Order: sequence, then C-alpha cells, then structure tokens
Amino acid sequence: LKFVCFVNDGVDEHMIWLVGLKNIFARQLPNMPKEYIVRLVMDRCHKSVMVIRNNQVVGGITYRPYISQKFGEIAFCAITADEQVKGYGTRLMNHLKQHARDVDHLTHFLTYADNNAVGYFIKQGFTKEIDLDKDRWQGYIKDYDGGILMECKIDPKLPYID
Ligand code: ACO
Repeated sequence: LKFVCFVNDGVDEHMIWLVGLKNIFARQLPNMPKEYIVRLVMDRCHKSVMVIRNNQVVGGITYRPYISQKFGEIAFCAITADEQVKGYGTRLMNHLKQHARDVDHLTHFLTYADNNAVGYFIKQGFTKEIDLDKDRWQGYIKDYDGGILMECKIDPKLPYID
C-alpha cells in the first residue's frame, strides 16, 4: 500500500494515476458532471493524494491549496466501491493532512460535503461550524448547493502518519 501526492505536471506516470482517480470519482460521485471532475483533477492548481495498492489506484482526494490563505479546499474524495469501509478513507485523510501541513503549510481544510458523506467527514475531525475568518476564504471557494460546508483544523504538531 502506497500513498502519493501528484499534480498534473506533464509526467506520464502521474497522468496515468490521475486518470485512474478521475474514473473513481466519476463512478462514486454520480451527481458531479464528468467534465467538471476531469477539469479539476487535471488542473495544475489542484493536487491529488492517492491510495495505490497492487499498482492500482484505490481512491484519493483532490484538493486546491490556497497557499497565501493557508487553507485548502477539498474538491473530491472517494474510495472505489469494493474497497470502502476498510479504513482507506481515514488513512487517506491523514496523509492529506500531513502533506498539507508539512508541504503546503496549510492550517485548515474546507469542503462542501455531500449529505451522505457528512458522517465520514465528522469522523475525520470536520465540523459544520466554520471558525476560519471569512475574509480568509470568502471569494476563494465557490458556493455549491447540494453540499454542506465543513471545516477541519489541521493540528500543528500531531503526527498524522507513522
Ligand atoms: N457516512 C457515515 N460514516 C461513514 C461513511 C459515510 N458515508 N463512510 C465511511 N464512514 C465511516 C466508517 O464507518 C468509519 O467509521 P469507524 O471509524 O467508526 O469504523 C469511518 O467513517 C472511516 O471509514 P473508512 O473505511 O476509513 O472510509 P472509506 O474508506 O469507506 O472512505 C468515503 C469513506 C471516501 C466516504 C467512501 O465511502 C466513498 O468513496 N464514498 C462514496 C463517495 C463519497 O461519498 N465521497 C464523499 C463525497 S463529498 C466530497 O467529495 C467533498
């Protein structure tokens, strides 16, 4: 099992993983237009943390780090159907938090969670209360109806992964 973080940087191998992840999102997030998924996953401002097992993408999280604002917006999060509820979603989120803190120097995540994923995000430390100052995020993330805005504070010291 391997966790990697890639951006569409023109490297063939990275592109192959990103296409695999895009296909998982397209299946697992049927309410999202496929073109929108492709656009964000392939966008150079977005990064994707992925779980890879036996040389196959099992799932991932695509997010946009707003470096100057020190927060990240999670756009998509999914684990392939037959690998859900095995703990991969939790480990993935922990890798994301560690990477976002140590590489991007972010302090918070925001996401519009689907109704049925709110329970998962709560278990990952997200809340419906938004503590982050509005002027740090307003105008950066777009309003999206059909989702609930949730926030997670990244601990400055906690080791999220071994
Ligand atoms: N609702 C409530 N609780 C959940 C859900 C859910 N939809 N999914 C998982 N959990 C719980 C698990 O029971 C587990 O609880 P436990 O720690 O008490 O045992 C905990 O959350 C973590 O479970 P994992 O096994 O780590 O989660 P998994 O690998 O299944 O990944 C995920 C969770 C990503 C939500 C996955 O189920 C999935 O891909 N679902 C379909 C797509 C989806 O809804 N994605 C999120 C949309 S919102 C967005 O993308 C911004």
